[in-house]
Amino acid sequence: MRNIIVTGCNGQLGIEINRLLAGDPEYHLINTDVSDPGFVPVDKKLDITSIDDVLAFAREVKPWAIINCAAYTAVDAAESHLDLNYKINAIGPRNLAIAATDQKAKLVHISTDYVFPGDCPDPRTEFDPVGPRSVYGITKLAGENFVRDFADRYFIIRTAWLYGEGKNFVRTMLRLSETHDRLTVVNDQFGSPTSTRELAKAIRVLLPTDNYGLFHGTCEGSTNWAEFAAEIMRQAGKKTEIVPVSTEEYQKINPQSAPRPHYSILDNYMFRLTTDHRYADWRDALTVYMKDQGYAAD
Ligand SMILES: NC(=O)c1ccc[n+]([C@@H]2O[C@H](COP(=O)([O-])OP(=O)(O)OC[C@H]3O[C@@H](n4cnc5c(N)ncnc54)[C@H](OP(=O)(O)O)[C@@H]3O)[C@@H](O)[C@H]2O)c1
Repeated sequence: MRNIIVTGCNGQLGIEINRLLAGDPEYHLINTDVSDPGFVPVDKKLDITSIDDVLAFAREVKPWAIINCAAYTAVDAAESHLDLNYKINAIGPRNLAIAATDQKAKLVHISTDYVFPGDCPDPRTEFDPVGPRSVYGITKLAGENFVRDFADRYFIIRTAWLYGEGKNFVRTMLRLSETHDRLTVVNDQFGSPTSTRELAKAIRVLLPTDNYGLFHGTCEGSTNWAEFAAEIMRQAGKKTEIVPVSTEEYQKINPQSAPRPHYSILDNYMFRLTTDHRYADWRDALTVYMKDQGYAAD
């Protein structure tokens, strides 16, 4: 049996990793998170920002792999919490990379489209230059770099517009639709909504392989937030009208501290070049999620 440490096990992705891999007889998941009450029972409270705690725990359980689902993901709050973001999004992955190397374990680390400036309309590949514009993006990029520096065998997967079990755009739209006939949503930011299910499936594909390195991992196809919201309403059978607005207009109604990339479309180029794995189209993945959650109209 292969021991896998899951960090941030009660985040959106951590929960999905549990759904997908907990029943796999090949693997024994050891669930950790910074606080203990949550959806997934926590085997060990572990703060990834402590190198001593991370190393000691890895030496105790001797993982075959570490899947890092922990992160600071509140992008607007991040703008006024630089130190905390560096600790969780950069030093945390560094600590896990050091522990993975110490244990000759693999490390799966998740990163983000926010490492790009978001000003190029073409889908970005793993070979394109980065240039983050927000605290979240800057610290996530620092995390990627630490993983490259300190881990011998790693998979870094950049994802985007993630939704699963937890706070996310789909749930926010559905909640707001209960009390609003109209919702104002931006239509000039483009990306690929990605379910945690699709991301976890891709992690399951890479995990047993030696196909290490950097991967982009998002659902196929792309959209903008307003179209995404309209599709959520359509699939839920809701009558709420989605009113599309530009980012500039939206900032006047509901100012956001972190700059949002206009173009967040990632090309899963390395998956295509090196594997047979393909992500589902974003609409199909949404349909699966809506049915699973009981949100679908029929
Ligand atoms: N959500 C998105 O749209 C999105 C987009 C692109 C990339 N990503 C990346 O995808 C990955 C998974 O995101 P997600 O949405 O599943 O995140 P999430 O739901 O915010 O979960 C993050 C988890 O990490 C925990 N955590 C925070 N600080 C920690 C620490 N110091 N030590 C250990 N655990 C800690 C959190 O606990 P608390 O809740 O108690 O703080 C939470 O359980 C992250 O790397 C994220 O950057 C997400």
